[in-house]
Amino acid sequence: MTTETSITLELDDIQAGALRPRSSPYAGAYFLLRIDERRAGRELLRRLIPALASAANPADPAKQAWLALALSYQGLKALGVPEESLTSFAPEFQQGMAARASELDDVGESAPEHWEQPLGSSDVHIVLAALAPDAPRFETLVARAREALSDLPGVALLWRQDVASLPNEREHFGFKDGIGQPAIEGSGIGGSNPHEAPLKAGEFVLGYEDETGDLLPVPQPEVLGRNGTYMVVRKLHTRVAAFRQYVRERAASPAEEELLAAKFVGRWRSGAPLLLAPEHDDPELGADGQRNNAFLYGDDPRGLKCPFGAHARRMNPRDSAIVGEVRLHRMIRRGTTYGPPLPAGELEDDGADRGLMFAFVGAHLARQFEFVQMQWVNDGRFIGAPSEKDPLVGSNDGGGQLTIPQQPIRRRMQGLPAFVVNRGGEYCFMPALSALRWLADLDT
Ligand code: HEM
Repeated sequence: MTTETSITLELDDIQAGALRPRSSPYAGAYFLLRIDERRAGRELLRRLIPALASAANPADPAKQAWLALALSYQGLKALGVPEESLTSFAPEFQQGMAARASELDDVGESAPEHWEQPLGSSDVHIVLAALAPDAPRFETLVARAREALSDLPGVALLWRQDVASLPNEREHFGFKDGIGQPAIEGSGIGGSNPHEAPLKAGEFVLGYEDETGDLLPVPQPEVLGRNGTYMVVRKLHTRVAAFRQYVRERAASPAEEELLAAKFVGRWRSGAPLLLAPEHDDPELGADGQRNNAFLYGDDPRGLKCPFGAHARRMNPRDSAIVGEVRLHRMIRRGTTYGPPLPAGELEDDGADRGLMFAFVGAHLARQFEFVQMQWVNDGRFIGAPSEKDPLVGSNDGGGQLTIPQQPIRRRMQGLPAFVVNRGGEYCFMPALSALRWLADLDT
């Protein structure tokens, strides 16, 4: 399938951070800022706009390093955005992530009262993301951000989370990540699965027709909403030792341990999908961007190759028979790892904070991020397994379960704990460059 289309996306107005895939390897950081004085906040935007990259020329290697800016609802308020405009944003965004905790199953250790400060507080106004293919280019981005912040006492830098690819370019559990991404009409960025037709641009950018055939009203005024999108950031701590112990204890051999781990994810550690490599890892396939996502689940209707409950299959069931319409729940992901790797072979937790800065981009917070988090991560009804949550990232409490179909009889992995804990996050709006100029020029 091709991404040829008659849709014209205004790529030079949309921020690169919305559409551009991250490089690999990468070095980056998330900065959280508070606006104490609205004029200072507007001045910061004015200074930063020239440094923010647009989504134009996606193939240009010089554009692999970028700064992107997004605002929380509290941030829009702090800038002095008028009330009638504030109320035109998605209701979930207006509430913020912490207020959505019970819907998102951010409970127990993942509950907002345990979040790392200032995540989830009304102090988080601006999220500035810097992402580059290497440390020198990353430092250049940081220097630009610092310059913009200098002599601006009305804006406070509250928090910084550095992210960097691990030496093997995998996430902390040991799997290649960032493979499955949707193709988007008019973006110039091809998807990774030739069997998935490109999605309508309105799924990912506000102001364009979406998969329902609708052109929904954008946040008002038009100049503020158009070409913008929503971004969700979550700091997800990963319990790597617990995961290693779990599969070690339940496997009779190292080979079985690897197979079990692959059944949790739907892919082998190399990235090779179980659908195309059901028996053994195939590192060449895993590394081949032309082939490692070129599959559907249609020829595995019983889940004998890839369990219905495997993380990747739940998160994108493709053509599997499920309750619901997959194309309405797709997302752009830009996960980046933080913290030191747990040394190979180590089964005891060393107390280090390591995990994934999860980033979602999409135009529909409710039916994309929230729906997936509620229905596909933390509920199993859509695959006919009501008592099962996502085995890798679900809010399991020690009694979680993963069914692995196999012959002659299925295997049930039981007693699953939470391998991922949410340390906090926020719902943000990533305005277009013209919208940022409008915000910088507000005179309320
Ligand atoms: C620490 C937390 C997480 C880890 C370690 C993780 C890891 C992975 C890995 C290894 C893959 C397979 C490789 C790939 O296709 O890129 C994957 C795929 C995916 N994950 Fe996650 N993930 C995490 C959290 C989440 C969350 C919270 C969501 C959604 C709310 C999510 C959505 C997805 C999606 C949409 C895919 C692509 C599926 C496909 O297209 O086949 N992930 N993840």
